[in-house]
Amino acid sequence: MQKLLLGLGLLVIGCGGGNASGATCPTTSTLTYDNFGRQFFASYCDRCHAAGTMPSYRTVAEIRAGTSLIDSEAAAGPSAVNTLMPESGAAPTEAERRQLGEWLACGAR
Ligand code: HEC
Repeated sequence: MQKLLLGLGLLVIGCGGGNASGATCPTTSTLTYDNFGRQFFASYCDRCHAAGTMPSYRTVAEIRAGTSLIDSEAAAGPSAVNTLMPESGAAPTEAERRQLGEWLACGAR
């Protein structure tokens, strides 16, 4: 029984991806979909995530709906630097991941 519970626990952790980045929204934030989000997702995510079999992040509404998952897979902040996504290919720098965390924390406006 203990083994079974341990197995289930690992399964849950495995599916949950990374951890919340803990990023917050500074009042001085200037990041927007137009000056940051669109380009970030086009450069690093849309290649796979616009394909139809996976969640698409091609519109800001789709990104907003996935905020906490995206944060725990790809964003950086005081609590975690998440690098699970992108799975392969061109990857954002840590500075860009911090911007992603900030932008998401600001509501992906
Ligand atoms: C090389 C292809 C590829 C790229 C590029 C990629 N992903 Fe993914 N992503 C996947 C695959 C495949 C899965 C599903 C399997 C998994 O979770 O590993 C996935 C799953 C996810 C999930 C979990 C979705 C869910 O509903 O559980 C999130 C969130 C995510 N990706 C975000 C991103 C973000 C943000 C980027 C850009 C920084 C990105 N991905 C770039 C292939 C990719």
